[in-house]
Amino acid sequence: MRLWFKVNYFGKRRMKIGSVLVTGANRGLGLEFVRQFLALPTPPEHVISACRNPDGAKDLHDLKNKHKNLSIVKVDLNDTEHLEEAVKEVEATLGNSGLNLLINNAGIASRDNLDTITAEEMMRHFRVNTVGPLMVTKVFLPLLRKAAGSGGEGASINQATVCSISSGVGSIGENDSGGAYAYRTSKAGLNMITKNMSIDLKKDGIIVVSIHPGWLKTDMGGPNATMEADVMAKKIIDLMGTFTSDEFTGKLYHFSGRVMQF
Ligand SMILES: NC(=O)c1ccc[n+]([C@@H]2O[C@H](COP(=O)([O-])OP(=O)(O)OC[C@H]3O[C@@H](n4cnc5c(N)ncnc54)[C@H](OP(=O)(O)O)[C@@H]3O)[C@@H](O)[C@H]2O)c1
Repeated sequence: MRLWFKVNYFGKRRMKIGSVLVTGANRGLGLEFVRQFLALPTPPEHVISACRNPDGAKDLHDLKNKHKNLSIVKVDLNDTEHLEEAVKEVEATLGNSGLNLLINNAGIASRDNLDTITAEEMMRHFRVNTVGPLMVTKVFLPLLRKAAGSGGEGASINQATVCSISSGVGSIGENDSGGAYAYRTSKAGLNMITKNMSIDLKKDGIIVVSIHPGWLKTDMGGPNATMEADVMAKKIIDLMGTFTSDEFTGKLYHFSGRVMQF
């Protein structure tokens, strides 16, 4: 009860973000993040939805017709060559301000086991779930640094944060069921990137975290999943609102707020 109060109270009170960019924003949890940010009592001035096929992102275009603060930009994690173009577009949208929050949400998952796993499947997951978020974060760093200001003291979600949507399945310490080689290792790699970047970016005042969103009713999670994506997006936004100093950086969080083992 006490944790619930803390998360929700601080989440609501402190969540006043100037700008947020969400990858994989055309469907699933990413689309719900966009919806929930737009629905905040004080929505961000800029909600930037990134997806690999903007022309086909009907839900985002419908939202854009209603919300002037929403923009759509192309980001394909399999094609890191064009990322600089996305940065230029985002820079033009933000004007003089930096980027406060980057949510590395896009991801893929397939089922495999020791008999079925292939080298190609491993590399495909590594490319999208591990290398992609690293390269996206790298190109947006100048804008994140700009938002963080002079950095050092007072890091907070309202300044600059990188939040990667990982998975409990990527936790080495909490793995007790085996299987899913490609997904597990790619998310474990993502968690290492979170830890590593949290150290490298501490001096800049940028918070870097991984979050496990639970089992969600999306294309990835399937209809038997235990939670709705819109409810979880809201919950995670509230959780992110509690990241108010650099003591929160460099961790893998369960959506409940519990710090998980890497
Ligand atoms: N669902 C769960 O139960 C669950 C559990 C734990 C963690 N997660 C994590 O939560 C995040 C969101 O998952 P979800 O359930 O919303 O999955 P989803 O419904 O399958 O949506 C995945 C999103 O990622 C995008 N994407 C895939 N490959 C991409 C690429 N190469 N470049 C850019 N975007 C790409 C997809 O875009 P397209 O439409 O273009 O394919 C889509 O927008 C993922 O990182 C996932 O690993 C999910």
